[in-house]
Amino acid sequence: MVVTNRFEERFLEPGSDAKRLYERARKVMPGGNSRTTVYQAPHPPYAARGSGAVIVDTDGQERFDFVNNYTSLIHGHADADINAAVIEQLQWGTAFGMPTESEIKLAELISARVPSVEHVRFTNSGSEAVMMGIKAARAFTGRPKIAKFEGCYHGSYDFVEVSLASTPENWGADDPTSTAYSWGTPQSVLDDVVVLKFNDIESTERLIEQHKHELAAVLMDPMPMRAGLIPAEAAFVQRVRELTKQYGIVLMFDEVVSLRVAYGGAQSLLGVTPDLTSMAKIIGGGFPVGAIGGSAEVMSVFDPSQGYPRAPHGGTFNANPVTMAAGLVAMEKLTPQEFERLDRLGDMVREGIAEAMDGARIPGQVTGRGSLFHIHFHDRPLSDYRSSHLTPEEALKVKRVHRELVGRGVFIPGFLVGNLSTPMDEGEVSAFVSAFADALDAAR
Ligand SMILES: Cc1ncc(COP(=O)(O)O)c(C=O)c1O
Repeated sequence: MVVTNRFEERFLEPGSDAKRLYERARKVMPGGNSRTTVYQAPHPPYAARGSGAVIVDTDGQERFDFVNNYTSLIHGHADADINAAVIEQLQWGTAFGMPTESEIKLAELISARVPSVEHVRFTNSGSEAVMMGIKAARAFTGRPKIAKFEGCYHGSYDFVEVSLASTPENWGADDPTSTAYSWGTPQSVLDDVVVLKFNDIESTERLIEQHKHELAAVLMDPMPMRAGLIPAEAAFVQRVRELTKQYGIVLMFDEVVSLRVAYGGAQSLLGVTPDLTSMAKIIGGGFPVGAIGGSAEVMSVFDPSQGYPRAPHGGTFNANPVTMAAGLVAMEKLTPQEFERLDRLGDMVREGIAEAMDGARIPGQVTGRGSLFHIHFHDRPLSDYRSSHLTPEEALKVKRVHRELVGRGVFIPGFLVGNLSTPMDEGEVSAFVSAFADALDAAR
């Protein structure tokens, strides 16, 4: 497949299959779908199938997939080993009102790999995992508030949506204001969330101290994807760890995405052990999943064996054996060697992107680590959400380059944060870099 040649996108043509599907969809779903992220104007392409690193739309066009269902498909599409495990499980049943051995196996694997995880419980999504983590922290500490970092995404729970999309008009001159994401968010939710600035030791320290008696948890993504994919500085995380320990606040890492940067997750690279960790995406092998794990002490709030648990946790499909079987194979295939290979490919793509911007004399930079990368069209020093927030001109540039990339056979999220999968090698990376260099030229 040649990806650098610009092609007409068939899904946008008047008689396209995507247009027909979209018109049908709009009659039964608001905006035609069940997931805001996959919408694009005038309508999205529809997926027909995927294989390895390639996704094919219903109008027959192939693209290299650097979306991978928003980082969850670390082995790309239709991985043969994962499929075999799922097919094997299907014949024995898909969900039971009894626990199964499959969840023990995946729990054993996760607790052996992720430093903070002694005990773990499964959910059906990352949003649920984050929500259960916060409920656990409240139950453990008896305190009502949480602290989170401005602009960081943690799923759909009301409390963690606070200040997700703050703008220069409402984010506050100094300490961040708690802003609503969803219309109708109760004031009480905003009041119960302390918003912090990522990588800013001075203000974080001051705000944690100010609220130390009310804070159940500090929630932190060590490399937040929607806030610039900027890694947390080690000294910053260490200081947050010290403060939370000192004040009896639960430190919770959201590793729903960052678990894919290392065998033991981002926490293993930072050398800081949180009390709780939310996980999802790669641990389900492509199936719906989430998990909350942490110290046996904090996780004991879920324990039903000592009377009614302090934090009751239900879920009809929690730890269903299909997801567990897929997740176990997916995680077993992620060996330390495979992480090293993804690191090398990640370095290659980040270097290639930086060289292309240099060559085109376009100010820019690339952030990320391991299999994750984010392209920025400015050279401001990046430390947090505010420094990565796009001006209207930068947003327009991102939109143009995105359109050029997709039209050259590279499928990547609209905010230009891409991720690699294990079926990829140097070929896919070079194809991405050439398509990007051409897209820069074309978008001028
Ligand atoms: C860091 C982070 N936390 C939580 C979530 C929510 O996960 P899910 O979409 O599985 O609910 C996401 C989803 O992208 C995420 O990126």
